[in-house]
Amino acid sequence: MPTLLFQPRGHHVASLKTKVTGIDFENPYLLGSGPPGTNAKVIAKSFDLGWGGVVGKTISLDASKVVNTAPRYGKLKDKTNPDIVVGFENIELISDRPYATWLDEFRQLKKQYKNRVLVASIMEEYRKDAWQTIVREVQETGVDAFELNLSCPHGLPERKMGMAMGEDPSICEEVVGWVREVSKIPVWAKMTPNVGDPKVPAKAALKAGAHGISTINTILSVVGVDLRTLRPMPTVEGYTVPGGYSGQAVRPIALRHVMEIARAVPGVAISGMGGIETGFDAAQFFALGASTVQVCTGAMLQGYECINKLNEELLKVLVDHKLENISQLVGKSLPYFSTHFDLVERQRAAKAARTGANKDAETWKGEIKRETDSLTSV
Ligand SMILES: Cc1cc2nc3c(=O)[nH]c(=O)nc-3n(C[C@H](O)[C@H](O)[C@H](O)COP(=O)(O)O)c2cc1C
Repeated sequence: MPTLLFQPRGHHVASLKTKVTGIDFENPYLLGSGPPGTNAKVIAKSFDLGWGGVVGKTISLDASKVVNTAPRYGKLKDKTNPDIVVGFENIELISDRPYATWLDEFRQLKKQYKNRVLVASIMEEYRKDAWQTIVREVQETGVDAFELNLSCPHGLPERKMGMAMGEDPSICEEVVGWVREVSKIPVWAKMTPNVGDPKVPAKAALKAGAHGISTINTILSVVGVDLRTLRPMPTVEGYTVPGGYSGQAVRPIALRHVMEIARAVPGVAISGMGGIETGFDAAQFFALGASTVQVCTGAMLQGYECINKLNEELLKVLVDHKLENISQLVGKSLPYFSTHFDLVERQRAAKAARTGANKDAETWKGEIKRETDSLTSV
């Protein structure tokens, strides 16, 4: 696996190894919570193929309450090339596999893959004892960190879970506080983009002691209407619910969420995701303040093997910019966000410079007193 790359000219060396919230990563790519990390077999395969980490499919104490539908996905395809999936909607719930099975699998994976990062994504009802039980029992298995799913936008909110928590800053703070009372490993709070100001719930989670923020979960959406039947999709027995949108189309929105939180809380550990399919996509998340990235839909569409391409492309960006590691890229583009007023001022100044307003021929036209004043600083 290419964690090191040597550039023949100039002997520049770049590494993808990184350390975030106290955890060492071989590379900064995790599979995002969802189908890619849905059982021990596929998680082991991902580690073997070189993924730096895996966030497991979200689990809860009682999987019997979780019942999925089929179909549960909808693709928005490129009009000229239907092989290209522009956006992806799902109405999938969290894992329906038994909790006890997950505990065994986490234990077995951590025994087998000591140097790979295994993050347990957990979700529970709005009860302190439920959250504290799942945290206590799951951390015993040796997983490296928790990701709290405060953000699934469909199905679970009907049980006051997922996004029903993440959209309410006071509940975010309370739930993260419950977790932090008993957790002994790093805690990342996974946030929803379905809010007006993403800074508010993220700050509430951090105030309660979250070590990092994962963002974004999916965006509420209706992928389309089947014009033969006039039924909205994905159609289950003629009906549907709004689902979560992911894939390429959401990347600009995800980048904005990462940027807002990174600017509001300098130095915060952000695990950025939403539409990452290439190492060049990932590099943009780092430049806007993420320190790890996650890939879910991109892996579902391209296969687990895409990790090699993701690594190579990200290394190319580091080498091109003569950077030695990811942390040197983190936040590089953040200083270049400003206000509209400031953009207008900058443009005015640039135009003046271009048109030669600073040149003597343009300045001295005969009104020497006014012209002298115009060059005076106070
Ligand atoms: C089919 C599917 C299932 C998902 N299930 C979960 C889940 O169980 N828990 C969770 O936190 N996020 C879940 N997600 C959200 C992803 O982890 C991720 O936040 C989102 O899809 C944006 O990233 P992407 O564009 O790389 O997929 C799911 C996404 C998809 C497409």
